Amino acid sequence: MPIQERADIIGEFGNLLIKEKESLARIITRENGKPLREARGEVQEGIDTASFAYSKAKTDLGVTVPSEFSGKFAYTMVNPVGTVGIITPWNFPVAILCWNLIPSLLMGNTVVFKPSPEAPAASSKVIELFLESGIPKGVINIVHGVGKTIVEEIVENPDVRVISFTGSTRVGRKIAELAGRNLKRVGLELGGKNPQIVLEDADLENAVQGAVWGAFATTGQRCTSTSRLLLQENIYDEFLELFLKKVKEIKIGNGLDEETEIGPIINERRLDTILQYIESGKNEGAKLLLGGKRICGDKYDKGFFLEPTVFTDVNSKMKIAQEEILGPVLSIIKISDFQEGIEIANDVDYGLSSSIYTKNIDLAMEAVERLEAGMVYVNAPTIGAECHMPFGGVKSSGNGFREGGQWAYELYGEIKAVTIDYSEKLQKAQIDRFKDERKS
Ligand code: UN1
Repeated sequence: MPIQERADIIGEFGNLLIKEKESLARIITRENGKPLREARGEVQEGIDTASFAYSKAKTDLGVTVPSEFSGKFAYTMVNPVGTVGIITPWNFPVAILCWNLIPSLLMGNTVVFKPSPEAPAASSKVIELFLESGIPKGVINIVHGVGKTIVEEIVENPDVRVISFTGSTRVGRKIAELAGRNLKRVGLELGGKNPQIVLEDADLENAVQGAVWGAFATTGQRCTSTSRLLLQENIYDEFLELFLKKVKEIKIGNGLDEETEIGPIINERRLDTILQYIESGKNEGAKLLLGGKRICGDKYDKGFFLEPTVFTDVNSKMKIAQEEILGPVLSIIKISDFQEGIEIANDVDYGLSSSIYTKNIDLAMEAVERLEAGMVYVNAPTIGAECHMPFGGVKSSGNGFREGGQWAYELYGEIKAVTIDYSEKLQKAQIDRFKDERKS
């Protein structure tokens, strides 16, 4: 099927997503718990990814390169890789699927896809919409189920040539090891321990809003969620006062209620893990300033709700400052100056997203260079990547591949170098062009 036909199907899928935005958002909210306004935003990421792919079919997919010789024409083309395996998490069951499924299809691949068992309905609906858009049967294959067996099959089956995995660093490492034995390409999107630095000259109101949104949106269950807030000491008290006031105002509840700002934790197991991190923070000597408990009583008994939780007096070596919690738990660390801020920001294994609030252009530019992260935000929170930008992390947050925009396509295409010699003679690369040497 020519690329334009594939793009037409993707374009039609995008149209259906626009039409079904509200119904799909409701499915996301019902099974994932995130507030409707965020669920709508997530569907929009799918729509944007589809429209990007639609246009991509009309751009270059290779380059023309000069040859060493005349009468020789060199260019690159991109072929499909074959079958792609996509393994997605529950926190963005539509967006992360679209980020990977759409480029895979545009490049002419078939897909075996395993959604998270925690959010299978939203992902299934995406596949149904693709079928409605005219994708031929057998191009997308969805396999439901829990964990290991399916993942191992996807990773080890020789017919699957490329794997996209979004999830924990622990599982990502295992997948990469297994895939490595079969020389498969793997795109890994793993954990984060994302810092927001606030310097003394920052617009505090803006920085407070950014921290509240970054730490507690999606109940802190984004891989890009802000989990460390690094405050310069001379604005520490003022910031904290403004911040706590805002956090206490957050409306927690059923995501289907338009007023809700944060919903529940995805399941009881995750809630227990987060509560254990909160215990560990207390045991290690951090001060629990706010929250820390499960919310119970009437409507809250229908989900695993947790109070937005804020620790102060956190030391960078503590577990709560080092490990990904994936919940509404924020560790606040006092920094004396910019240098210390950068050092602490980088003092973790992860390197996904990062943020700095300052009006000082010199420091902002230096931070952009020095922050060890795949994404850096200046005067904006660590969450909320736009989907035509490269999304991914350094260090233990990934393995170099990026989702989003044109970069997603690097994972799903096989580059072929093509050389056509129309000189009607043998021209030996690296040798024949040294004429003097040849004479002697
Ligand atoms: C994730 O948490 O895995 O940048 C994805 C963001 C969203 C996507 C998050 N656009 O926060």
